[in-house]
Amino acid sequence: MGVQKKISIEVTVHDTAEELDGSYRELMSMAVNARKKAYAPYSKFSVGAAVLMENNEILEGNNQENACYPAGLCAERVAIFYAGAKYPGMRIRAIAISAAALDHKVSDPVAPCGSCRQAISEYEFKQKEPIKILFMGETGKVITCNSVADLLPLGFNSSYLE
Ligand code: THU
Repeated sequence: MGVQKKISIEVTVHDTAEELDGSYRELMSMAVNARKKAYAPYSKFSVGAAVLMENNEILEGNNQENACYPAGLCAERVAIFYAGAKYPGMRIRAIAISAAALDHKVSDPVAPCGSCRQAISEYEFKQKEPIKILFMGETGKVITCNSVADLLPLGFNSSYLE
C-alpha cells in the first residue's frame, strides 16, 4: 500500500505588480522592459526575466527563438545563465518573469517551464540559499514563491551524482 505523504508548496498571489514591495516592483518592471526586447518571431510569445544579484545588480534576459525551433532558449535561462557567466559564484536573490502574446492578452501569471525550473534549481542548490521567483503575464496578478523548490518539488540535484 505504501505510506502516503503530502507535499505542500506555498505561493502568494498579488492582485497587481503595484502590490509588490519596492525592490521587487522594480525587478518586475525590469522583466517587463526585457520582455519588450524579446526575439520571438515564431511563437509571437514574448517573455522577459530579470535576475536580482547579491550585489543588487539586476541582469535581464528574454526569449531568443530560432528558425530551428529547439535551438531557441527561454528568457529565464538566458537571464540566469548570463548571471552565472557574468558573476560566477555570486548569490542570486530573485528572478522576476513577465510574458505577453502578440494576438491575445495574457492576464494570468505565466510560470516558468520545467527546464527553466531545473536550471534555476541548479543555482539554488549550489548557493544553498533560496531564490525567490515572481511571475506574471502582461497585466494582472503576480504569483510569488520563496524558493524554486515550491515550483519543483522532489527535484533532481547534484547530490544524486555523488
Ligand atoms: N518561453 C519562455 O521564455 N519561458 C518559459 O518559461 C516558457 C516559454 C518562451 C519559449 C518560446 O520562445 C516561447 O516562450 C513560446 O514557448
